[in-house]
Amino acid sequence: MQEHNLKSEGLKAFEEYHQTVRSSFPFLERDGEGNPRVYLDSAAGTQVPKVSVEAMAKAYAESRAQPSDIGPSGRRTRDLIWRTRELLAKFLAAPSPDEISFHLSTTHSLLNLAIAFHPIVHKHHNVVVTDADHFANVSPWERILGERRGVEIRRLGVNDQGQVDLDQLRSLVDVNTRIVAVTYAANAVGTVMPIRQIAEITHRFRDDSGNGAYLVLDAVHHAFHGPIDVRQSQCDFLTISGYKLFGPVLGVLWVKKEHMERLDPYYVVPNPNSFEQGSWNNAVLAGMQGALGYLLNLGSHLAPFWSGELQEYRDPETRLFKIAMTAIEQYERELSAAVLRGFAKFPEDRFRMYGLKTVEDGMWLRDPTFCFEVLGKTGTEVQQLCWELGNIEVADGDVFSAMVRRHLRKLDLVSRASFAHYDDLRTVRALTSTLGKILAS
Ligand SMILES: Cc1ncc(COP(=O)(O)O)c(C=O)c1O
Repeated sequence: MQEHNLKSEGLKAFEEYHQTVRSSFPFLERDGEGNPRVYLDSAAGTQVPKVSVEAMAKAYAESRAQPSDIGPSGRRTRDLIWRTRELLAKFLAAPSPDEISFHLSTTHSLLNLAIAFHPIVHKHHNVVVTDADHFANVSPWERILGERRGVEIRRLGVNDQGQVDLDQLRSLVDVNTRIVAVTYAANAVGTVMPIRQIAEITHRFRDDSGNGAYLVLDAVHHAFHGPIDVRQSQCDFLTISGYKLFGPVLGVLWVKKEHMERLDPYYVVPNPNSFEQGSWNNAVLAGMQGALGYLLNLGSHLAPFWSGELQEYRDPETRLFKIAMTAIEQYERELSAAVLRGFAKFPEDRFRMYGLKTVEDGMWLRDPTFCFEVLGKTGTEVQQLCWELGNIEVADGDVFSAMVRRHLRKLDLVSRASFAHYDDLRTVRALTSTLGKILAS
């Protein structure tokens, strides 16, 4: 697969366009009540652009609850649902909108998926989960398949850089492995997994009759940082969350079409083979469309600076998503480098960072998410001081991360600062100078 890049002028164009990017997000510098802030908690929920906020209000006014082929408001609802599915499929470079289902959240989509596996997971099978994951992609496998069905759960460890050990994965996956559940990027520390290698190991024992293991990718953390291509990644299932993709709370599950007939999702009669339950939340779908529209717009702006062929993305919107997300990825690498340069100046006996210390390390990449510990202070104290000294919002505690709970075991001690493409070097400096003050105190 060919490598794509923005030309160097493209990154410059992105930087020049950045004020427009920032002003697209009304609550970035001031929250809904007008309080000034530096929002460095995007991994807990990205900011929402104005187009998305407006689309939600419009949906309540203009579309009716249920889709219909008759009458304008029913047709609007029908089209809204279909178009959101279509846009999400294009965002993931998925073959068909029919492979996309909507859920209350990612936690809910993975629960639905775990239930759906019951016809093909039996007691002699095993499932691999990782210590790099958010518990949303650990608990359904441990609780639904492990505790309730008696399936063996195997745990893949992680190191302080957020890297899983591929040799250990090779030793865990055998003919009886049914599922390998892995995060695309560790939500605590931002380490991006080598997905293609993981997919190869997962599929070692797969055959045409459906034996062998399926790869379930939790792409929630990575989705707002870089392009995702379900075919290129060779996963079997992939999930993302709307509110970590500049939209409202929504779980999105991609299921490779050929796997549908082997699964048995919980459905409500008369809607068999559907992963979706109940009525759709039209306003949420409209907000998601608004967020994706924002990304398409960004892609259009940067398309003239594109140097790759993109032949494999014949669909124009799929191509624009790819351009926008690649530009975001390249831009965010600069932010990460600046954060790491700032952190490197802090005294080692007072400050400890977990996760990759470089932007790129062989096959490993990082998203701009930084987990750190100020020795002698709790994560909550650091969170409080970041707010008091710099109006900076960061996260503290375990952030539902198996890496923090099971590997680092530092529940109360760590904090997390997480960036998105609407941040800039000023927000990086705000963090490093505030942390500098905390360390000097
Ligand atoms: C990596 C990752 N996976 C899953 C989830 C759960 O997503 P949701 O809140 O949509 O259930 C989160 C949320 O923090 C996450 O960061």
